[in-house]
Amino acid sequence: MIHVDVPRLRLPGGAIPVGGLGTWQAGGGAAERAVSTALQLGYRHIDTATMYRNEAEVGRALATVGIDRDDVFVTTKLPPERVGRERQTLTESLVALHLDHLDLWLIHWPPGGAPAPRTWDAFRAARDDGLVRSIGVSNYSIAQIDELIDATGEAPAVNQIPYSPADHDPELLAAHRERGILVEGYSPLKRSNLRAPALADAAAAHDVTVAQVVIRWQGQPESA
Ligand SMILES: NC(=O)c1ccc[n+]([C@@H]2O[C@H](COP(=O)([O-])OP(=O)(O)OC[C@H]3O[C@@H](n4cnc5c(N)ncnc54)[C@H](OP(=O)(O)O)[C@@H]3O)[C@@H](O)[C@H]2O)c1
Repeated sequence: MIHVDVPRLRLPGGAIPVGGLGTWQAGGGAAERAVSTALQLGYRHIDTATMYRNEAEVGRALATVGIDRDDVFVTTKLPPERVGRERQTLTESLVALHLDHLDLWLIHWPPGGAPAPRTWDAFRAARDDGLVRSIGVSNYSIAQIDELIDATGEAPAVNQIPYSPADHDPELLAAHRERGILVEGYSPLKRSNLRAPALADAAAAHDVTVAQVVIRWQGQPESA
């Protein structure tokens, strides 16, 4: 087991390690192997979702590697079609993951394109009942977030959105910051042109790969 001092950013219910392992499209044993290997290499932040259908694999890896529960940060997400069945879905996620609480629970998309304040109320209740440390959303616009805040008085702790050097948008980041929301960027490599000259120049200057440049940029708090 390798120990890495992973930097963390503060959330209302704890601290989120910068940089995590995503498990989208990992099934058939791949998620368990990837999570297990990542934890042994020092990753302390694992991102899954009900929709990924691999929570049980992630749970097996967490149980097998045996990292102290307080040292690992686990996120899962409610699919929009489970609106109205939030608590049942959360219970199923916790059972599959072999956990008694999540570190972060996200609404995966605005259900039907709407912000869903009643679902947000269910998230707040789950947090207040101790089943979830922090709650947030994913793929929400600032206008949709403002509707949630207007309806419930509480902003999400996190908005997980597509983000990469090519997407850099200081105004969008500032809008989240003003509302006390942490932007968690996904698909940094997929959304990057790994042949872009600026990235190639940065990689050559630091004697690293272009993918390493993208990941390093993505993890800088000033770009997050
Ligand atoms: N909330 C949401 O709606 C949402 C949506 C999407 C993703 N996510 C989360 O974000 C995670 C990551 O998303 P993602 O897989 O779309 O994006 P990503 O991590 O940016 O892209 C992964 C792809 O990058 C390529 N790659 C990996 N290492 C590389 C390297 N060293 N050099 C060059 N290319 C490399 C691989 O492509 P090849 O396989 O083609 O080589 C790999 O499949 C997901 O697993 C999920 O947890 C969330």
